[in-house]
Amino acid sequence: MAPVEPEVAERGFSPMHWAGDELLLLDQTLLPEQEAWLHCRRPEDVAEAIRRLSVRGAPAIGVAAAYGLVLGVGDFDAAHDLLLSTRPTAVNLRWALDQGRALRDRVVEGGNGRELRARLLAWACDLHDEDIEANRRIGAFGRELFEEGDRVLTHCNAGALATAGYGTAIGVVEAAWSAGRLASVWVDETRPLLQGSRLTTWELARLKIPHRLITDNSAGAIIARGWVQKIVVGADRVAANGDVANKVGTYPVAVLAARHGVPFYVAAPLSTIDRDTASGADIPIEERDADEVVHAFGKRIAPRDTEALNLAFDVTPAELVAALITDAGVLRPPYRESIDAAFHDRGGSRP
Ligand code: MRU
Repeated sequence: MAPVEPEVAERGFSPMHWAGDELLLLDQTLLPEQEAWLHCRRPEDVAEAIRRLSVRGAPAIGVAAAYGLVLGVGDFDAAHDLLLSTRPTAVNLRWALDQGRALRDRVVEGGNGRELRARLLAWACDLHDEDIEANRRIGAFGRELFEEGDRVLTHCNAGALATAGYGTAIGVVEAAWSAGRLASVWVDETRPLLQGSRLTTWELARLKIPHRLITDNSAGAIIARGWVQKIVVGADRVAANGDVANKVGTYPVAVLAARHGVPFYVAAPLSTIDRDTASGADIPIEERDADEVVHAFGKRIAPRDTEALNLAFDVTPAELVAALITDAGVLRPPYRESIDAAFHDRGGSRP
C-alpha cells in the first residue's frame, strides 16, 4: 500500500494520491480481494485506468483526469483528447478537462513548460481537496433529510472510492449514521460489474455502518415489505431539467420508489450538473463490451455466441427525483429553476 500523507489520512480515505511525479490509483477492479495501487506516470496510464474502471465514479474520474493532464504536460492537447475519449457519460470528466485547458491557455501566454506543470499540479490538488469539501457539504445537507431508524437503499457505488474522498450518496449515509439518523443500508449488488457488492460493502464495512447486500432484482420485494424508508444514489450527469444519468438499474429503483411512496434522492456536486445538456435524452450513454455481461468471475455465464447489450447507465426522469442533494444545498422541483438558482448563488456558470 502506498504511503499516505498524514493530512490525507486525517481527511479520510481517498482512492488516489499524487506522489512526487506519479499518480497512485487504488485499482478498484481488484477490490474487495486485493488493495493494490497502480502507478500512473503517463496520461495513457490514467486513460487506461479510467477505461477499465480501475478508477471510476464521476467525480473520481474528473480528478484523476486532472492529474492525467499534469502527466501529459509535454503534449497537452493529445493528453486532453485521450482522457476525454475514455468515458462519455460522467460530465465531471469534461468539466475538469475544460478547466485544465483554460488554465493551460492562460499560462502558456506568458509562461514556460515547468511553470505550466507546477500550475496544473496545484490546480489538480485543489480540485481534489474541493471535491472532498463538496462531498462533506453534501453529507451535511443530506443528513437533515433522515430520521432515526431509517433504512436506506443505494445502487452502485457513490462513496469515497467514486470521488476524491468521502463520497456523495455514501457521504450522506455516513453523515446520517454519525448523526444517529440511520439504522442500516441495503446495497444493490449492481450487475454486471458489481460495484455495490464489491465496493459499497467494502466502504460500509470500513465505516462500520450496518448493511446488507441484495441482488438487484430483490429491491422490489424489499421496498414492498416496507423495509426501505429512503433511497439515495449518486449521478454521472444531471441535465438542466433535473433528469439524472446514473448506473444502469437506477431508473427501475426510482420507479419502485414512486410506486411505494419512498423518497428517491440523488446526491451530486454541482460539478455533475450539466446545464449545457437540456434533458436526459441528450446525455450520451456509454455502451460497454458485451463480454462484461456474458462473463462473471472469469467464467462464461451464457452460451457462446449469445448476443448481449451492456448499457452502463440509465436516465431517471426528474419527476421521480424527490430532491437533488448538492454541495450548494438540497434542490427541489422545479429543477430548472432550483439548479439555475444554485449556480447563480455560486457566482457563475461553473462551480
Ligand atoms: O461505471 P461506474 O462505476 O463509473 O458508475 C458509477 C456510478 O454510476 C456512480 O453512481 C456515479 O458515478 C456517482 S459517483 C459519486
